[in-house]
Amino acid sequence: MCGIFGYIGAKNNAAKLVLEGLKALEYRGYDSWGVAVVREQRTPPYAKASADGANSKQLGKIVIEKRVGKIGDSFLNSKFSIINSNAAIGHTRWATHGGVTQANAHPHTDCNNTLALVHNGIVENWQPLKTQLMSLGHKFRSETDTEAIAHLVEEEMKKRGFVGSVRDAFKKLAGLNAVAVLSLDGQIAVAKNGSPICLGIGKKEYFIASDAVAILPHTKKVVFLEDGQGALINKGGVKVFDLNTGRPIVKRPTHLKWSVEAVELGRYPHYMLKEIYEQPKVILNIAENYKDQIGGLASLIKESYGTYMVGCGTAAYAALVGSYLFSRIAARHVNFSVGSEFGYLTHFLTPKSLVIALSQSGETIDIIDSVRAAKEKSAKIACLVNNLGSTLYRMSDYKILLGAGPEKCVCATKSYVAKLTILLLLAYAMNDGLVGGTQLVRKASQAAEEILKKKYVEDIKKLAQKISKHDHIYVIGRGLNYPTALEAALKIKEVSYIHAEGFAAGELKHGVIALIEKGTPVLVFAPNDETYEAIISGATEIKSRGGFIIGVSPKSDPVFDVRLPVADVGDASPIVNVVVAQLLAYFLALERKADPDKPRNLAKSVTVR
Ligand code: F6R
Repeated sequence: MCGIFGYIGAKNNAAKLVLEGLKALEYRGYDSWGVAVVREQRTPPYAKASADGANSKQLGKIVIEKRVGKIGDSFLNSKFSIINSNAAIGHTRWATHGGVTQANAHPHTDCNNTLALVHNGIVENWQPLKTQLMSLGHKFRSETDTEAIAHLVEEEMKKRGFVGSVRDAFKKLAGLNAVAVLSLDGQIAVAKNGSPICLGIGKKEYFIASDAVAILPHTKKVVFLEDGQGALINKGGVKVFDLNTGRPIVKRPTHLKWSVEAVELGRYPHYMLKEIYEQPKVILNIAENYKDQIGGLASLIKESYGTYMVGCGTAAYAALVGSYLFSRIAARHVNFSVGSEFGYLTHFLTPKSLVIALSQSGETIDIIDSVRAAKEKSAKIACLVNNLGSTLYRMSDYKILLGAGPEKCVCATKSYVAKLTILLLLAYAMNDGLVGGTQLVRKASQAAEEILKKKYVEDIKKLAQKISKHDHIYVIGRGLNYPTALEAALKIKEVSYIHAEGFAAGELKHGVIALIEKGTPVLVFAPNDETYEAIISGATEIKSRGGFIIGVSPKSDPVFDVRLPVADVGDASPIVNVVVAQLLAYFLALERKADPDKPRNLAKSVTVR
């Protein structure tokens, strides 16, 4: 949550580079944004920076621009963006402490504007820190926890140089935090404990970002900081150090594998649509290239005594599908928990347990906490994760990358089907049936292609027009497609803001059916499996009470008022069915004039508790 981006280098358009970097990170929060640059005085500060930041002769002036809302495209060419500068930091905010106001937007400064600071995380002891700093005469201008850090660094700077002050101030913070601090002489110090920070190493230029995806257009060489590490970035390069001792740490850069084109919108109006369309390829790639990795994880599961799958939101629904797949294909019980609850269920973990963590970002705090708790019990950790080098990736003993490419829309689409595909193959591999499973996955990829054809998409668009004025949409499924119902409802509500709920169809008569009124749209997943008869019977009961039944099924049935046909792909039905729901959610968002890429109140990476 919140995106940090920074630049130091030979180029003199640091503000513009940072604004572009922030735009690439906007999915991490878009309540407000802000950029601080060191405006060049006579000699560029970048050219004169010293190793520790104690250089006081060549000071520049820190200029800050901040606004509420998303970064408008026009701003990329504003007066501010062309200020001559070699060093800048910026922030895109998902508000935690303090309302969504310009004053609360980052960067924050000290009393004398000698530094600018951006922050991702929550300073749990900010109140006592603020009180103490105010008693020492510091003047606060915002309601944020972040501003306390800026004044704390200022206070420390009365005693020592820039980088030492950032280190000592950071050590006084409670909670999970990452900061980047820009000094008057154009250096940037960063410190990390919990929230992600990585550094891009270019040619005579360096980048700081909360997520490597923003660095990708500039360089593929990235250093990921670990908790308890900091860095000083200036014209001499990047120096990583231990935050506690100050000792230098040698880090080898990771080479990013994603292409620059993968993060561009191309011919699509929204990332959500682009990412939906990428799914058949993502599925096929896994079918063709993941045999060994899947085999390796299957062996780990067989060796373990107790396997647990954890994820949050959409990733949790993928894990839930996994538990059904393991049951029916591999006759293996897999425990499932949402990340935020897993901590209350760890009493059974032993060194023989295996925890499989599912996450697109690899930074979701509840997943990182789950993994930490499991590690404390010496359990083995495997992960299905999209982001190379992410915290989860680094913490895991066994890792499978989803290979979905960068997912920029705030809501998860292609990372979900990638997880489902890997879990399906994994279940087949457990049963020595990987060859058959792979064939099924190829069929699923083809079936997803069919859904993405023009005529089909037009039909979904028309359906969205028809039902978009409703306040409630319900979704039902059974067995393998019970999680599909949950995921479909989540997609609809988060991008269109229509209240949508997914239910296990068997629960209808236990209370849910009371919600049905004349014309209420109900999406019914009716695959050609053992759930078919029962789900049709549930749909019929809803129809008798006036519900408008939208069937997603390979079979036609008189109960459907509208049918969205899908191929019969057996156990792969959750992979295919969800594509229909994603498209419906997308078009509902457009009908309701919502931005499907950046739904209100959300951020892609939930890095605070
Ligand atoms: C919904 C969505 C979220 C994420 C969840 C976990 O569309 O995107 O529910 O799935 O926040 O995120 P990751 O997978 O990054 O751990």
